[in-house]
Amino acid sequence: MSSKRIHVLIVLGTRPEAIKLAPVFRELARCRDQFKTRVCITAQHRHLLEPILRWFRIPVHYDLDVMRPNQELCGLTALILERFHAVVEAQRPDVVMVQGDTTTVMAASLAAFYHRVPVGHVEAGLRTLDRYSPFPEEINRRLASQLATLHFAPTNWSRNNLLKEGIPPQRIIVTGNTVVDALLETRDRVLRHPPAIPQLRGFKLEGRKLIVVTAHRRENFGPGLKSICQGILRLASEREDIEIVFPVHPNPNVRAIVQPLLGSNSRIRLIDPLDYPQFVWLLSQAYLALSDSGGIQEEMPSLGRPALVMRENTERPEGVKAGVCKLVGTSAEVIFNTVTELLDNQKAYTHFGRHSNPFGDGQAAKKIVAALQSIRSKP
Ligand code: UD1
Ligand code: UDP
Repeated sequence: MSSKRIHVLIVLGTRPEAIKLAPVFRELARCRDQFKTRVCITAQHRHLLEPILRWFRIPVHYDLDVMRPNQELCGLTALILERFHAVVEAQRPDVVMVQGDTTTVMAASLAAFYHRVPVGHVEAGLRTLDRYSPFPEEINRRLASQLATLHFAPTNWSRNNLLKEGIPPQRIIVTGNTVVDALLETRDRVLRHPPAIPQLRGFKLEGRKLIVVTAHRRENFGPGLKSICQGILRLASEREDIEIVFPVHPNPNVRAIVQPLLGSNSRIRLIDPLDYPQFVWLLSQAYLALSDSGGIQEEMPSLGRPALVMRENTERPEGVKAGVCKLVGTSAEVIFNTVTELLDNQKAYTHFGRHSNPFGDGQAAKKIVAALQSIRSKP
């Protein structure tokens, strides 16, 4: 029996990949009579990754240990290529599963391709068509589409993007986004048992509205991120009715700007990144999120709350079209004015929550695993 099982090698490196591949791992583990599943972490992120793996009980079979302080893209890519190559060569999986648009995805897909091992790409087909935004993710994602054999598109829009690039329709499966699977499960668990958040000990909203902020995009480093901070500072100074919690990404290029600009304002809680259950609980209490994150653009609509996207464009326009997300760019003034409008105009605010979530129904992992059953018949 075991020799007939499909050998799936999941590779992941960063926080969002772990969250979004967790449901796929779980579903594969549930079907263990059909699949032998192994997990390789590049550890492109180390501190952000480990608590997520613990929360979702994901084992690690191979650890490529590539994280370096303030790592740059070429060195990171080279390390992943070289080290993942060794794992694929030794293990000869039937399929390598990747998720999203990070350097881990691009380099691991390339290594698998060089070994002629099929790649299954989860969250395929998202595009801005701007090669430098998000940077380097837009190009990482397009390269992954060229390298993959099976494309798990979260929506019909992403499926159409793939078709336009010549990907054969029979290789594309529309599944919804696995983040919805992970979020709904986590939300149910944390609403039943709210997690302790030691970093927020003593923090009380007392009738004020919670605004959760995150920022980490490379194309925003420098002037964009400074301007974002100025908008947040103005909100904290002029609005008595809000509290701002900002878990700061460990990338030193983020910390170097955020800490000096916002660190001394008593109305802004700058904290270390939260574990996923803590963060989901925080989002569930938020009036709105201000973020340049991809995942949060999908999670806030799933919670029926607004996400203001601090970017000039998005590869997830479904949320904007559905009226659950809004692009605000990085201008301090636009950020201040848009948040002010949503605080003062209840009608505008409730308008956001009324729409259905375009990103999925929580069943994406099941659809992905069902499609993987046919991987051996795909050349
Ligand atoms: C990476 C991804 C980005 C993704 C984001 C999710 C690339 C090029 N970037 O960006 O697509 O949206 O993750 O968060 O793939 N660091 C730590 N501990 C950690 C994680 C990071 O100290 O757990 C620091 C290290 O100094 C590291 C730096 O952050 O060198 C940058 O990490 P890196 O993975 O290169 O880029 P991110 O900005 O995290
Ligand atoms: N997240 C988290 N703790 C935090 C901030 C974010 O667990 O302090 C989660 C968030 O819920 C989402 C994911 O991290 O699922 C998004 O990761 P990130 O913004 O780093 O990357 P992106 O989605 O932009 O690639």
